[in-house]
Amino acid sequence: MLTLGVLVSGTGSNLQAILNAIAAGTLPCRVGVVVSNRPQAPALARAERAGVPTHVVDHRRYATREAFDAVLAAILQQAGVELVVLAGFDRLLTPAFLDPFAGRVLNIHPALLPAFKGLRAQRQAIDYGVRVSGATVHFVDAELDHGPIVLQAAVAVAQDDTEESLARRILEVEHRIYPEAIRLFAEGKLTIEGRRVRIAGGNAPLPPPLLPV
Ligand code: GRF
Repeated sequence: MLTLGVLVSGTGSNLQAILNAIAAGTLPCRVGVVVSNRPQAPALARAERAGVPTHVVDHRRYATREAFDAVLAAILQQAGVELVVLAGFDRLLTPAFLDPFAGRVLNIHPALLPAFKGLRAQRQAIDYGVRVSGATVHFVDAELDHGPIVLQAAVAVAQDDTEESLARRILEVEHRIYPEAIRLFAEGKLTIEGRRVRIAGGNAPLPPPLLPV
């Protein structure tokens, strides 16, 4: 069974969705370790409740990104991690981390990439005036929110959406497509071909764009 290592910084609702999918028997994986760079991250308690070992590696205690990344990589390797899942992890990773896990790191971003990279993607979408935004699961490379795309799901933007209300609806689709993308990886169905990801058996059927309530 595929061993996941989940990196978190905050609330951990995506971690929870993954743990729930595993518990429900729809995701054939185990979470070997959860690592947070923030000691107060509520995600840590979610891991502990599920009996998953946790580590805190506070990035502020390292002089360089590379030194921090090397410690992260060592912890995950020790735990036998085969796929790294970034779930609200707020640090950029360097080759010191990415090289040992090449093609084995996934991230989820709360927008339809390549639109609205970086922080506060929901705010960016509202300010730009788009009618549709959504969520993207992608492989991670050394560029911010850039690697090959695995799954996307659309969410309609309502006229009077706030950053919070849009974030809430996008999170609902995040919680569906992240476990699904991990399942596709675990079943060996994903092949990276340059910028594109081939899914064996074709694209999984995705939910239609959610309309605002
Ligand atoms: C999500 O919106 C995710 O797309 C972004 O950070 C947020 C994490 O939320 N990368 P949570 O910690 O999983 O609740």
